[in-house]
Amino acid sequence: MSGLIDFAGKRVVITGAYSGIGAALVELLREAGADHIVVLDLKQPEVNVEAFIETDMGNPVSIDAAVAQINAEGAPAVDVLFNNAGVAATLPADTVMRVNTLGLKRLTEHLLPTMNSGGAIVNTASVAGNRWPEHLQQINGLLEINGWDEGVSWVAGNAEVVADGYSFSKECVQVYTMRMAKTATQHGLRINSVCPSPVDTPLLPAFRETMTDEIIDWAIDAGAGRVATPEDQARALLFLASDLASYVNGINLMVDGGFGAAIQMGQVALPG
Ligand SMILES: NC(=O)c1ccc[n+]([C@@H]2O[C@H](COP(=O)([O-])OP(=O)(O)OC[C@H]3O[C@@H](n4cnc5c(N)ncnc54)[C@H](O)[C@@H]3O)[C@@H](O)[C@H]2O)c1
Repeated sequence: MSGLIDFAGKRVVITGAYSGIGAALVELLREAGADHIVVLDLKQPEVNVEAFIETDMGNPVSIDAAVAQINAEGAPAVDVLFNNAGVAATLPADTVMRVNTLGLKRLTEHLLPTMNSGGAIVNTASVAGNRWPEHLQQINGLLEINGWDEGVSWVAGNAEVVADGYSFSKECVQVYTMRMAKTATQHGLRINSVCPSPVDTPLLPAFRETMTDEIIDWAIDAGAGRVATPEDQARALLFLASDLASYVNGINLMVDGGFGAAIQMGQVALPG
């Protein structure tokens, strides 16, 4: 990899790096010289990393314990946080919202104040969250809540808008990315997200189950005509975390092979 992207000497935290996009990202980070990678996941990654902290991103006690370990006395500050862990709606909506939204928000807000200025936060959202403008008021209502239990109660009390949890959780991540951009600049940081269309990872069969083959194949065909690889997404994540993206903040970057553009331009028929 060219010297334009250099993660040597940077402390990088990644959630969800056992498989899929996160595992591909670890490989790319290595190529970019990263020598201090901390992974938070339920499962220990097979690739070699400097630290693995077993963490359930849906559980506040587990997240807080991970933060305490990351920020232990004498530990260097974090430069880059990748909020990548996520689950599909094959799990209950409550779990999906805890892992994909509430846990992501909690980890971000606990780490951000002590991160090194000049660093970056990059979230893995989804094109499934593109319809956030339809629910902005509700999303802001949830994101304004600080307490974990209050957030969980909000989810339970808004079952209609939350639905199966997946799209709404990713709408929340896209909005959260924009909401936090101002706060990030105040700390000398940037926050952005990557929004993948279907990616060939262990999660894809779960999306086929919950969203149907018809929708998934339509999204693939309407875009690049091939399913995205984990590396396609990892490259975009790496870019947003790097100094090449030094003036990019509060952006939800569609990494969808042109799927969104084709829809917006009316070039593809909606399925069904
Ligand atoms: N695969 C797709 O088609 C697709 C499309 C759009 C967005 N995404 C998003 O990409 C991200 C990565 O998913 P992927 O496709 O690589 O799937 P994946 O299942 O390979 O990766 C998800 C990772 O998160 C970890 N994880 C799951 N639950 C966790 C929990 N409670 N606590 C901590 N870690 C947990 C898993 O162990 C795994 O390492 C997710 O946020 C997902 O929503 C995926």
